[in-house]
Amino acid sequence: MQASNQKEYLLGANEAELERLRFQHWVWKKITNNFFDRIGIEQGWKCLDVGSGPGFTTMDLRDRIGPKGEVTALEPSQFYLNWLQQEAASRGWSNLHCIHGKAEDADIPVRSYDFVFARWVIDFVPDAEKFLKHLIAALRPGGVIAIQDYWYEGLSLYPRGTFFDRLPDIIRSYYRAGGGDPFMTGRIPGILRNYGVRVVDFTPNQLAGGPQSDVWEWVHRFFMGHLHLMAEKGVVSKGEVERILADWNTQRKNPDAIYFSPVVVDIAGTLDKSPKSSKNKTS
Ligand SMILES: C[S@@+](CC[C@H](N)C(=O)[O-])C[C@H]1O[C@@H](n2cnc3c(N)ncnc32)[C@H](O)[C@@H]1O
Repeated sequence: MQASNQKEYLLGANEAELERLRFQHWVWKKITNNFFDRIGIEQGWKCLDVGSGPGFTTMDLRDRIGPKGEVTALEPSQFYLNWLQQEAASRGWSNLHCIHGKAEDADIPVRSYDFVFARWVIDFVPDAEKFLKHLIAALRPGGVIAIQDYWYEGLSLYPRGTFFDRLPDIIRSYYRAGGGDPFMTGRIPGILRNYGVRVVDFTPNQLAGGPQSDVWEWVHRFFMGHLHLMAEKGVVSKGEVERILADWNTQRKNPDAIYFSPVVVDIAGTLDKSPKSSKNKTS
């Protein structure tokens, strides 16, 4: 464990969480693909996927950059990196690399990458400025940094007025209990600008659907995996968990119920080609 982050990563790294991340990747794939399309990732690019987890986006990036590019997964969980290395080997890829560590203090080559990406990582990080500063230093001048993460509003269930309405507050407390900030995406443009990065994209996304939809199934899996952990962290009582689950299970049988996801924001910026003009040094 490295000194900059005393708290354990909130969601853990294990087989069940890997499968949850796989499904989550599938549910949000269109939104991430649209973001990658807008950025215009090209064959031959050198990319860094930060907090890659098992590397579902790392592998998508490898597909985009082809055999002549290079993609590196940076991840503190050796369990996820081992899984990703096996996947890469089974595809015969020799240009997918791994760095074991946390973004804030890992040994990352400076002024090196065309593209640095972090999806669903920065909202968990206690010192987001340190995290971003280290990643911006890894960009070549003109390179692109892109973040996808929550602006933790929007999560809601129709019909309103059930105990479920308490859930957004509970999940925000869960993030804070892990040292993170569920509204970090609002702060990111200001930090980027301060380090010489010009923000070129800031796009909020939301999914919604009924009990048969993928987005419903996605959040169902999250609740089943994490509601009891929220109770262990003390952000919700066991009694409240029971009542939330009772509401949820009632609405699962209601064909007119609709679940709205929290907002996921796409943020992209390009590093100034003359970084002397930035207020802070990035390396
Ligand atoms: C919710 S998962 C998202 C995984 C992947 N980015 C995706 O979109 O599927 C968050 C990942 O961030 C990693 N992580 C947590 N803190 C980190 C840090 N300080 N630096 C880099 N990665 C971190 C965790 O180990 C975990 O694999």
